[in-house]
Parts: sequence; structure tokens; C-alpha cells
Amino acid sequence: MLKDKTALVYGVANDRSLAWAIAQAFSQAGARLVLTYQGERMERNVRALAETVPGTLCYDCDVTNDDEIAAVCANTDRECGGLDVLVHSVAFARKEELAGRYVDTSRDGFRIANEVSAYSLVAVTRPALPLFEKRGGGSIIALTYLGAQRVVPNYNVMGVAKAALEASVRYLAADLGPLGIRVNGISAGPVKTLAARGISGFGSILAHVEERAPLRRNISDSDVGQAALFLASDMSRNITGEVLFVDAGFHIMA
Ligand SMILES: NC(=O)c1ccc[n+]([C@@H]2O[C@H](COP(=O)([O-])OP(=O)(O)OC[C@H]3O[C@@H](n4cnc5c(N)ncnc54)[C@H](O)[C@@H]3O)[C@@H](O)[C@H]2O)c1
Repeated sequence: MLKDKTALVYGVANDRSLAWAIAQAFSQAGARLVLTYQGERMERNVRALAETVPGTLCYDCDVTNDDEIAAVCANTDRECGGLDVLVHSVAFARKEELAGRYVDTSRDGFRIANEVSAYSLVAVTRPALPLFEKRGGGSIIALTYLGAQRVVPNYNVMGVAKAALEASVRYLAADLGPLGIRVNGISAGPVKTLAARGISGFGSILAHVEERAPLRRNISDSDVGQAALFLASDMSRNITGEVLFVDAGFHIMA
């Protein structure tokens, strides 16, 4: 489904990252991978993962740094001659903002969560446009969560950042549709990852979903990989500006 395509995936931390599950699904479908990680702390892990998929490129990139994003795009363009798929799988809020009351969110905590988790989609998209243009269009996918649309205890400012991210998906879809670029979100059910561990009471969210979701189970990271593959491929060629729930149906329940 992605033969001869290039996919740039922002946000691999380790083998539990949704970004890695997505990268694996893409590579199994024939895509060439470009992965990014944040800082030296993640480098060893991510380089070891990248080595398991021959030809994979790997770059350090903090999404709050426009120069680093520009370097990722320049390197991808030089090595791959364009881009077909971009995945945004990046989020961060300070631990103290992911517990207690939303009303206690600090000005700085709000700014950081929104800059890293929402604005960054715009920041990584704009310099990638000339690369997409070389391939006549493409697909952009961002990872979001139900907390954007409903109140999830302790998700707090991250829910507000995800709401901004989902609105960004729609505005970008409208801007970029004429260029043949589709922009969609995947709203994943809870999966135990490094980022998820930062949310206070995450274990009880998993238990609640298993009990209440129509399918009576939690999702796995490979479910997100398969959904991303669909959104990346031509099978979804007339879907843009959408948020696709991959959550065993949990979001439909009252
Ligand atoms: N795990 C879940 O339950 C779940 C559910 C729905 C949505 N999501 C979303 O999926 C995405 C990936 O998260 P994950 O659960 O795989 O956890 P993860 O910890 O593996 O991934 C989060 C990534 O964000 C990166 N990151 C944070 N700040 C950054 C910065 N300034 N610059 C560059 N990278 C930065 C981290 O390095 C990490 O690679 C996030 O957007 C998250 O909100 C996760």
C-alpha cells in the first residue's frame, strides 16, 4: 500500500511508542521511513529500533525548534527527494498539570502543553509542504485523544491542547486540500506508553474502557498502526479533516 512512498514519523521514544507501531505498519506496507526522536536521552533506543528496518533514517528533533524541523525536512528531501506521509505523534505537558483540577493550570503549563502538543503540528507541516509538492500531494496524520472532546479526569490541559490539535487538523485540511494533501487525526484509546504513564490514574482509565467499551477491550498499538496505514494510503483518498476513533467504540457511550 505504501510501496515507493516516504513516511516521516515524529515522536518515537521507544518500542512502546505509538509512533513506532505506526512506523512498523508503514514499513511492512513498503514505505521508506524517516524517524525523529527528542534529544540524546532517546537517541540510543531509537537508533536501535531504526536499525531493525534497513534504509531507515533517524534524526534528533525538538518540535519547539524551527531550525531542527527545517534540518529534518532538508535531510529528508536530500535523501528521499520528497515526502508522501507525515505523522505527528508528539505531546507533552508538565506532570503537575496532569493531576488535580484544570482550574489550577498555570500560564506557563498551558503555554508549554499547547506549544509542544498542538502548535507543533503547524510547525512540522509548513516546511514539509515543498516536499509533498514534489510527490503531488500526501497525507498528514496527528494523534489525539477523547479528552479533546470530553472531560477525562486528570487529562486537564492536555485535553485543551488536543482540542486545539483537532481544530488544527480541520484548518490545515482546508488549506492543504487544494495541494492534494489530506490531514486527519486518529483518536486512540488508552495505551500504556511513556507519555501515558505521566497521566495520574492512567491504570483506572484502562480498566474503565475495558469494562464500558462496546467491544469490552482495550486497543493495542498495532490497531493504531493499521488505522494510520489506512489514512496514509490511497484507500482513504477522499477522507480529510476527520478524526477517526480507534478506541473499541468507547467514545459512543454515555
Ligand atoms: N498512549 C495513549 O494512551 C494515547 C492515546 C491517545 C493519543 N495519544 C497520543 O499519541 C501520541 C504519542 O504518544 P505515545 O502515547 O506514543 O507516548 P510516547 O511517550 O511514546 O510519545 C510521545 C513522544 O512525544 C515526544 N516529545 C515530547 N515533547 C517533544 C518535543 N518538544 N519535541 C519533540 N518530541 C517531543 C517524546 O519524545 C515522545 O517520543 C501523543 O500525541 C499522545 O498524546 C496517546
